[in-house]
Amino acid sequence: MSETLANLSSESRQFPPPEELAAAANVKAGAYEEAAADRLAFWATQADRLTWAKKWDQVLDWSNPPFAKWFVGGELNIAYNCVDRHVEAGRGDKVAIHWEGEPGDTRTITYAELLKLVSQAANTLTELGIAAGDRVAIYMPMIPEAAVAMLACARIGATHSVVFGGFSVDALSTRIKDADAKLVITADGGYRRGKPSALKPTVDEAVAKSPSIENVLVVRRTGQDVEWTDKDKWWHETVEQASPEHQAQPFDAEHPLFILYTSGTTGKPKGILHTTGGYLTQVSYTHNAVFDLKPETDVYWCTADIGWVTGHSYIVYGPLSNGATQVMYEGTPDTPGRDRFWQIVDKYKVSILYTAPTLIRTMMKWGDDIPAGYDLSSLRVLGSVGEPINPEAWMWYRENIGRNRTPIVDTWWQTETGGVMISPLPGVTATKPGSAMTPLPGITADVVDDQAESVPNGGGGFLVLRDPWPSMLRTIWGDDKRFLDTYWSRFGAGAGSGDEWIYFAGDGAKKDEDGALWLLGRVDDVMLVSGHNISTTEVESALVSHPSVAEAAVVGATDPTTGQAIVAFVIPRGSVDTEGDAGDQLNVELRNHVSKTLGPIAKPRQIMLVPELPKTRSGKIMRRLLKDVAENRSLGDVTTLQDSAVMELISKGMQTGK
Ligand code: WT7
Repeated sequence: MSETLANLSSESRQFPPPEELAAAANVKAGAYEEAAADRLAFWATQADRLTWAKKWDQVLDWSNPPFAKWFVGGELNIAYNCVDRHVEAGRGDKVAIHWEGEPGDTRTITYAELLKLVSQAANTLTELGIAAGDRVAIYMPMIPEAAVAMLACARIGATHSVVFGGFSVDALSTRIKDADAKLVITADGGYRRGKPSALKPTVDEAVAKSPSIENVLVVRRTGQDVEWTDKDKWWHETVEQASPEHQAQPFDAEHPLFILYTSGTTGKPKGILHTTGGYLTQVSYTHNAVFDLKPETDVYWCTADIGWVTGHSYIVYGPLSNGATQVMYEGTPDTPGRDRFWQIVDKYKVSILYTAPTLIRTMMKWGDDIPAGYDLSSLRVLGSVGEPINPEAWMWYRENIGRNRTPIVDTWWQTETGGVMISPLPGVTATKPGSAMTPLPGITADVVDDQAESVPNGGGGFLVLRDPWPSMLRTIWGDDKRFLDTYWSRFGAGAGSGDEWIYFAGDGAKKDEDGALWLLGRVDDVMLVSGHNISTTEVESALVSHPSVAEAAVVGATDPTTGQAIVAFVIPRGSVDTEGDAGDQLNVELRNHVSKTLGPIAKPRQIMLVPELPKTRSGKIMRRLLKDVAENRSLGDVTTLQDSAVMELISKGMQTGK
């Protein structure tokens, strides 16, 4: 990795925080020193943000690494922290959720109403025989009941496993089986792209294969016809009839809160286990710090789905523990029109927006004039998460959405880390477009070589985390060995200095001359071209910096002379002519552009102009499929692909050389 090309770190643009925001920021520069002086004391201070039924005896027990215990002996109830305490403090009338259905129907839910719903759902779960420690699968559209279901589980100590509503019967049933879930909470369907999309038939098939499931709780959202079995109960006939009185019991700080499956590159999905006290401490702190949340005045909107960790940590647990007012949106960004997001920002006066690079690039492709038609002056902090954000996409976000006023926080983290780990602080950090900048206070991230030695500024290697953090995964559900193998064995136990345990994140990264961190994508996404390591992210960013390019995906394809050769798939911007000669010319121009930006070694062997790119439902480009196309293999498994027709278009184009 040390040979990686130096283009990203030569980024010279830098944006200091707006003065006014900096002056009133929740977190100031001093937090870094405070945390560095005594990391555990720092996290203990953050844990004091929460209401504990019993105070902890010890901040961290790391006597059996890498199995961490945080806030040992402490007890708390997560739902109490996210709901009841705001009501008890007289903020019951404050809006918790402005919900916007895709067809345009809306619901406004205050903290007092949320308390009623969560209490009723908790009572119903108990009546259905769910007790602390049981697992509950949640397979829902983006409706308020999804958050209510999660909080109701947390309230009674049941461990939830949310399965993204776009997943198949197989994905759902293997997750039910792996966690041995007793109950599924679902809905008849939800609205997507202007029509009701069914969920219940998938659940019916999955439940038929899952003997552990005793009951299925069904929210009526669309009113579409559903098959009914004797395990099924309507939400409106149970939860909505249940008593709104429910006393939350405290649970141990290490009580299992949720399992969330993340697909590895190989093998079956990993059930990432998160627990109670440390998790809530870090998501609550980071939500307050990274977004500079002012709960009295901000309107926060995270566009993720509840089925991803971003939805868990930054729609449900972080914002609600902080008493935030947030927007929750059910549908897609282009229904009924491509202006839906900006219409929502304008309507609710959203002040903090948290979204993903894939969406930002899509908006870029749709054209600047769409956001330009809206009043976005309420926005004051913009966030990005999910993959490296190309400098040009970052600049587009800043100029067209932030109108050159608002800081951008590019937040690096993973399902496994539970909460944000590397990010600017909006009132402190002078940001560079495309860099996640520095680890947050209390977090020790580093870039190391393959001997686990820290690389100097200017160097590249593997991103690692050196010290345990409160919201870290505790294990892979039912598979401690895989937990050790996947994250802790890369550098060996006791690698580095002393007997350090080093967490291997699986991402490539480099430090620029100032020590700022640049994420380079998964280490599997590094290409070896004539003996040079080149990251797919770097070539993609070079392509996206060309004015004709909206989006790019790069793969390394086997090549008889260079080992691997760079093949790029490029989506041109809407207005660009790609017919006939114009397309050929653009192709040559783009190859030369990369060569000029990164050096001749990074010049793609081949560029394909394509209308779309294959993405997973969480928005990550499926480079594996593109590699199949680039190497002329028949297409592998496309079941987690957002839109499988895309692949047909792309491979057809490859055959004709276009
Ligand atoms: C992987 C984790 C974090 C919640 C959503 C994804 C990539 C995530 C960034 C970022 C560069 C990023 C990494 C990471 N990633 N955020 N800001 N810059 N890369 O969670 O599905 O567990 O994926 O997403 O490769 O390892 P996830």
